[in-house]
Amino acid sequence: MRADTPILIFDSGVGGLTVLSQTRELLPEADYIYVADSAALPYGDKSEAEIAARVCGLLGRLAERYHPRLICIACNTASTIALGMVREVLETPIVGTVPAIKPAAEATQSGVIGLLGTAATIRQPYVDRLEAEFAQGKTLLRHAAPELVLAAERKLRGESLDPTAIERAVTGLRAQPGGDRIDTVVLACTHFPLLADELAEKFGPQVRFVDGAQGIARRIAYLTRGQAFARSDSDLAIITGDASHDTALHRALQHYGIGRIAGF
Ligand code: DGL
Repeated sequence: MRADTPILIFDSGVGGLTVLSQTRELLPEADYIYVADSAALPYGDKSEAEIAARVCGLLGRLAERYHPRLICIACNTASTIALGMVREVLETPIVGTVPAIKPAAEATQSGVIGLLGTAATIRQPYVDRLEAEFAQGKTLLRHAAPELVLAAERKLRGESLDPTAIERAVTGLRAQPGGDRIDTVVLACTHFPLLADELAEKFGPQVRFVDGAQGIARRIAYLTRGQAFARSDSDLAIITGDASHDTALHRALQHYGIGRIAGF
């Protein structure tokens, strides 16, 4: 394998950048391709069949074109629905992103955990299984916060945020029975850590947030241990649809070390 063979990080939009940053900290010498499926954003309001077909098809074509050493599906929605299918069809190692219920269950003192995700993620049997395996004896309250996906996309582009969108997400958890005792919130969508400050302000200082990005970065480092890495000039972002005029996005990607942008 050539040393500049990239690691491909995939999301429906900019959320996976939160995973890219953590991975880059552990593997600064690696070459990255960041893929945002902006043409199909948001995934969270689509059906399981639509998401599975889209993700399997797109990752198949990307793997053929770019031959990455590893693919990270930096999207809870895509991973909880299509991770198994993608692994069946591709030979490339795949790392998924699933809601960080295990660390949240270990961290909670009150025994009440909140989970914010997309509508598609929170209804997945995958999440039921994580709850049954890791959060036994705890209460897991789930809330779909699709507005936060678009809010995170806006924030990254430097646009103003609607504070009521954050409030609605917080109330969606707090208003459920036992919601006042939530002390740990799983950010089960990779877009949401981009709004951590706004969420922290509304939830208050007694609530901690847990997301999967660090664990994913460690997993990628583990699976690529011993491999040679060499960076080319600048990382590449692939944006589906027409992002050629989205200068705010281009600027934001540059902050993440991505200087080249291509369509797909
Ligand atoms: N970032 C994605 C996730 O982690 C979802 C955003 C979307 O709805 O497309 O679930």
